Amino acid sequence: MKTTLLILVGLLLCMGANATVSPKKDEQVERKIKELIAQMTLEEKLGQMSQFDPGQLGGAESAKQAIRDGKVGSILNLVGASRVNELQKVAVEESRLGIPLIIGRDVIHGYRTIMPIPLGMAASWNAELAEQAMGVAAAEAASEGIHWTFAPMIDVSRDPRWGRIAESCGEDTYLTSVMAKAMVKGFQGEDLTDSRTIAACAKHFVGYGAAEGGRDYNTTLIPEVQLRNDYLPPFKAAVDAGVATFMSAFNDLNGVPASGNEFTLKQILRQEWGYEGMVVSDWASIAEMIPHGYAANQKEAAEKALNAGVDMEMASNCYVENAQALLDEGKIEMATIDSYVANILRLKFSLGLFDQPYTDESLAAKTILSERHLEIAKEAASESFVLLQNKNELLPLSKSISSIAVIGPLADSPHDQMGTWVFDGNKENSVTPLTALKEKLGAAKINFAKGLEISRTKSTEGFAEAVEAAKKSDVVVLFLGEESILSGEAHSLANLNLQGSQTQLLEAVQATGKPVVMVVMAGRQLTIERELKLADAVLYAWHPGTMGGPALADMLFGEAVPSGKLPVTFPKTVGQIPIYYNHKNTGRPADYQQWTDINKIPAEATQHSLGNTSHYLDAGFEPLFPFGYGLSYSSFDYSNLELSSNTMGVDGAIDVSVTLKNTGKYEAAEVVQLYIRDRFGSVTRPVRQLKGYKKVTLKPGESQQVSINLKANELAFFNGKDYVIEAGDFDVWMGTNAQEGLHAEFSIDK
Ligand code: NOJ
Repeated sequence: MKTTLLILVGLLLCMGANATVSPKKDEQVERKIKELIAQMTLEEKLGQMSQFDPGQLGGAESAKQAIRDGKVGSILNLVGASRVNELQKVAVEESRLGIPLIIGRDVIHGYRTIMPIPLGMAASWNAELAEQAMGVAAAEAASEGIHWTFAPMIDVSRDPRWGRIAESCGEDTYLTSVMAKAMVKGFQGEDLTDSRTIAACAKHFVGYGAAEGGRDYNTTLIPEVQLRNDYLPPFKAAVDAGVATFMSAFNDLNGVPASGNEFTLKQILRQEWGYEGMVVSDWASIAEMIPHGYAANQKEAAEKALNAGVDMEMASNCYVENAQALLDEGKIEMATIDSYVANILRLKFSLGLFDQPYTDESLAAKTILSERHLEIAKEAASESFVLLQNKNELLPLSKSISSIAVIGPLADSPHDQMGTWVFDGNKENSVTPLTALKEKLGAAKINFAKGLEISRTKSTEGFAEAVEAAKKSDVVVLFLGEESILSGEAHSLANLNLQGSQTQLLEAVQATGKPVVMVVMAGRQLTIERELKLADAVLYAWHPGTMGGPALADMLFGEAVPSGKLPVTFPKTVGQIPIYYNHKNTGRPADYQQWTDINKIPAEATQHSLGNTSHYLDAGFEPLFPFGYGLSYSSFDYSNLELSSNTMGVDGAIDVSVTLKNTGKYEAAEVVQLYIRDRFGSVTRPVRQLKGYKKVTLKPGESQQVSINLKANELAFFNGKDYVIEAGDFDVWMGTNAQEGLHAEFSIDK
């Protein structure tokens, strides 16, 4: 029995220190900010609080005039050092107060060197690599005059129908928090004034990933317990990493749109977390409070966003057009406006824009697509791949193979392999699998046939050629999945099966009797249960970016070994969604004794004859693949789970360790995952929660003791009233995914 001891750990609980480069309050800078604000007219203040796309500013001359008049503080989507410098010169030299512009852009997973989509990056479980990859993105973007990216997107995402899951780090709060920190550090580096760093933006605050039905922009209903335990921690991690900016989201959160939400923006972000950076709205999300039905008109929308704490308005004009009237009516205060302007100016100071407003125009040529950047992109792609199936150890293929059929709409699709949210990548720079395989093996060994023009093609006209290619070859590598346009913003899907006639193409080549390796490139987890039965090996490659081809070619031939692990649960069918590993248990958890497959139910079975547990008659209760899953060409053995102690105090910690042995033939990396379950709580607790992991590389036959320190305060949760660490019994597992692992128990004492 658990002794229920509630230990109030207070709202400062997770307020880890060590902020790195968030705008700091430097006395001298604060004085300059004050002096500037004292000289500013209301129009100039509102100018600083406004961000526009060049298209909204009219032609070049009208844009310059607006900047000259102090009506523009920030521009998004202006690209190219010389174009930025030209407008910056007007801001600095021709506007009354000479305040520099800040230029923002969606640099989500690369600028010109495109990294895997963030979901793929998360599948690497390699935070250092994610940090490096975002460092590359920052350096390239900065060299083109960009000061600020709208990334990372750290919305916990548990619905693959939602197109933006591609931009996320997946379903888990802990893994997303780890990646959030790494990505913020990658973009911002040690010093925001460095010419290779840019300001990051934690988005979308908050809950946007929980859109009902996975339909983008849809309502979110998230009880406070879940908001605080599942959705907020990655944002807190970003604050701790020193993130310079936040973006308020589009969604209606429990009846209050996120961009007018005082509870999240004021109480949580500013008061509880002490965040001192700036907040930008998402694109027109202030004006969109009108269709949401939360503001009757733009004036009310401005009032709500201003009073909630949104410093800068992106793309709409509610602030500019209504602030004067709101001030006159006493609905907002000048002190509020001044504090927002101060946040914006502080960001500009911290980026060094007052000292060095211009971008060195020679930088881009030296920076973009450099050899080192391409190497990092290849490594990131390689570590993102997840091996889902490898019957008869078909992979890796032998290089002495005499011929290989390369088939499928994604084998040579340089645009699609870059994935969603790529504004600046050029498909000419992508190296496709077809190109890379030709390079590796020589073109003569490759029999290429697309089979289908694009992923949605229904016509089977190309099948004959594909079957011919398969027949002529020793093995088929079939590149299926989805085009990049099928994921990302506003690109939700209700059906997650392979589009078009892709499954039929697989059937046709499989019928030749040749072994089939299926490589899936996609922006989300697709429902591929049927395809798993047809293919021998399945490698999930997400949208792998510029260097996806060479990374895949190396992996297919064993020059790299898969080490990616799923950052999301794979459903068998869409009807199982939402399906995520860290769910609650229900009072009637499912098990195989009490589940009857729909096809085995006797006719006229009586109501309770099948048992009453929480499952689907037609889809069971297990996923296709669990969170954390991923195979290797090698194999690993887990033994000797040990705890440094079976008990700890509320401020204590224990080491949980396991012996990991590489029992296979390849040097390979394994992600050792630590999960816990808090058996009872003042509010119910998830059946498992990831609390730590280590990615370890071992040579064949090598063993290592892998130890993870688990602190009691990492077991704290919000129970509806307080953040608490509760005394009682816990399960702990160390293993290779969220469904397996060696098990032990420990307890937290009073
Ligand atoms: C809307 C998107 O939701 C957001 O993520 C993005 O940063 C802005 N548009 C700016 O492009």
